[in-house]
Amino acid sequence: MKYGFFDDNALEYVITTPKTPLPWINYLGNKEFFSLISNTCGGYTFYKDAKLLRLTRYRYNNVPYDNNGKYFYIKDEDTIWNPGWQPVKTQLDSYECRHGLGYSTWKSSKNDVSAEVLTFVPMDDNCEVSKITLTNNKKSSAKITLFSYVEWCLWNADDDMKNFQRNLSTGEVEVTDGGSVIYHKTEYRERRNHYAVYGVNSKVDGFDTSRDAFLGAYNGPDSPDAVKNGKCTGELASGWSPIASHQIDVSLEPGESKTFIFTLGYIENPEDAKWESYGVINKEKAKAMLAKYADVSSVDSALAELKDYWKGLLSIYHVSSSNEKVDRMVNIWNQYQCMVTFNMSRSASYYESGIGRGMGFRDSCQDLLGFVHLIPDRARQRIIDIASTQFQDGSAYHQYQPLTKKGNSDIGSGFNDDPLWLIAGTSAYIRETGDLSILNEMVPFDNDMSVAKTLMGHLKCSFDFTATHKGPHGLPLIGRADWNDCLNLNCFSEHPGESFQTFGPSEGPVAESVFIAGMFVKYGEEYAELAELLGDNAEAERARAEVKKVYDAACTAGWDGEWFVRAYDANSNKVGSKECEEGQIFIEPQGFCVLAGIGVEEGLAEKALKSVEEKLDTKYGVMILQPAYTKYHLELGEVSSYPPGYKENGGIFCHNNPWVSIAETVLGHGNRAFEIYKKTCPAYIEEISEIHCTEPYVYSQMVAGKDAKFFGQGKNSWLTGTAAWTFVNISQYILGVYPTHKGLSINPCVPEGFGDFSITRKYRGATYNISVKQNGAQKGITKLVVNGKEVSGNVIPYEEGVKEYTVEAQIG
Ligand code: BGC
Ligand code: NOJ
Repeated sequence: MKYGFFDDNALEYVITTPKTPLPWINYLGNKEFFSLISNTCGGYTFYKDAKLLRLTRYRYNNVPYDNNGKYFYIKDEDTIWNPGWQPVKTQLDSYECRHGLGYSTWKSSKNDVSAEVLTFVPMDDNCEVSKITLTNNKKSSAKITLFSYVEWCLWNADDDMKNFQRNLSTGEVEVTDGGSVIYHKTEYRERRNHYAVYGVNSKVDGFDTSRDAFLGAYNGPDSPDAVKNGKCTGELASGWSPIASHQIDVSLEPGESKTFIFTLGYIENPEDAKWESYGVINKEKAKAMLAKYADVSSVDSALAELKDYWKGLLSIYHVSSSNEKVDRMVNIWNQYQCMVTFNMSRSASYYESGIGRGMGFRDSCQDLLGFVHLIPDRARQRIIDIASTQFQDGSAYHQYQPLTKKGNSDIGSGFNDDPLWLIAGTSAYIRETGDLSILNEMVPFDNDMSVAKTLMGHLKCSFDFTATHKGPHGLPLIGRADWNDCLNLNCFSEHPGESFQTFGPSEGPVAESVFIAGMFVKYGEEYAELAELLGDNAEAERARAEVKKVYDAACTAGWDGEWFVRAYDANSNKVGSKECEEGQIFIEPQGFCVLAGIGVEEGLAEKALKSVEEKLDTKYGVMILQPAYTKYHLELGEVSSYPPGYKENGGIFCHNNPWVSIAETVLGHGNRAFEIYKKTCPAYIEEISEIHCTEPYVYSQMVAGKDAKFFGQGKNSWLTGTAAWTFVNISQYILGVYPTHKGLSINPCVPEGFGDFSITRKYRGATYNISVKQNGAQKGITKLVVNGKEVSGNVIPYEEGVKEYTVEAQIG
């Protein structure tokens, strides 16, 4: 069952009922000011950091799930309704929500009054603009009252929901322009230099700034007293819960429309210009911001600018194939999700509360893989930021806070895959841009510039960390966990309340990871290539010799007969082996070792992927492990704490499905690679939205595996490494346009019958118009013609000064 449809021409997903199985959300904002917004107008706003600078409140764990947001109420005689249906939930006569790239719209009607709402964050201002148009379609004139509503958060979202003894006394506001402009200035007096503003471009007939006054002490946002009474109270908040609400009485003749623009903004003032007069905040910047969006034409042109921005970004990689679903995911939604994961890492979604994790070291490095082509300069800065949280021994803080860019000491370090992801992200950036200068940037360790090294020096620390932290089988030590956060082989947590991951020693001398071995082979080689590019052949040779040792260990101690072992635990027992009682085969080493090329020549790779197909495949994707753990294994940790079929315990972890799909392309299996791609691809499972539940335009972290009651159900949509890895898979391996240090390589691996396709790729200042003919085969370029000249091999030779490349390629 579907709850909407894709409108590919408009680059939008259209939701036709507010009653989606879960909130279906969108992200507004591209740089520093962000909002999450659901199809029923739930969600919240923050500046830079969802924990430390939260503008509006949202209650996770709420009942019903999604009932705080930025709402408009329409009171039309005795009927009160919201364009997004929530929170009043009056049955609407019509409803349509469109999520576009950085904006959302609603078009709803009730009793012959219609409302059109557009909400977006403009390109270069720290504000969210909402334009609402009310139209009277009745035969008689209508007198309706429009109310706005936002609930302020007292900035630190974590403290805001815990520290009531203080917070219920700190709230402060100012109101100007007869109530049209409401300022939230809690803590501005003492420690802050920033405030928020919510203004409307019209006179108002009332306002409220106190939640209790507006709602009534016993009501929720679903039945505010002020709206029921048709009149705000004009109360000035002092402590308790400050809000902002405007009341506008609107008279509309038959057929008449009126439009209002609401702007929710964030302002910072320099220390010496904080005040207009004693106790009165300096509003200069806020006034300028409100003035900028005070008329419809400037709002419309700001939206047009946003749309052009996205058109530009999406023109960097564009495919036209005979497959509509592939085209829509590649050209629109997958790249959009890559931008969102780049911006958010794993911090703020409807499932990540914004107060827990900041930027993940491994997560953000992987997000780069799907983002570097979009805005390389931002990727460059991100790489430096991430590397700055590394320690001198190569290990790294697992997470850092986006506002301060400092590592989070609560979680600390000890996740032994982290260092290698830095090589992955940097190598992807350099392959995209050719910008070797980044390797010479001086980058601090743990943000301490007195111990800085070049970025290449950091990569060497990463490489050496793995090379020097190996266990009894010559495989890399796992530490607290590797990519699989739940494989806690050194932790032994027995009591509730302990963190599975940070309990126990950060690293034992025995527990090893075959997955990290795969990473070391893949990114060790990429490190060696970077050393060569810098002219350090000795270092490249040294690196390759280290890689060879780990390659051999993976093929011997890391091999179980029919597939790769997952790990060795702290007692040197195998994890993910036929010898195990449960958890006999894991997906990660099969995918990653094969995509790294391990065991391809030895015939192990074919076997490993066959085993995956036999033991882990389902109709909804490839499960992470089988058989799922039915008991808690103290020596394994969190992985065995989940009920079978969920999350890391036998769920379909979407993130590592593309690894297996890429691995299949390495072996030339286009049919199987594409089959895996399709199983988790949102556009392909749109039809089963009632089972899948999460948004049909983005990936979720997990789909419940076959052991779970809700087999096929998605969870934790949006913020997942799946976005980047799937884009890498489809764009670079299946469609086969892969950036190398020497130029673009063309080597598609597509299923039989996929047909001819063409790709436009902007790369290092030139445009490549690539057309690929499929002559029956799944892989293997037999002819490559570049600007009329046949070339050998797969790489399009780069020619200085050439801005357009016409490329004709033939498979088979
Ligand atoms: C989840 C993992 C996640 C980790 C983050 C675990 O509970 O299962 O998917 O990476 O928490 O700390
Ligand atoms: C989600 C985390 O964000 C990611 O870092 C981790 O690799 C996966 N879960 C698997 O545990």
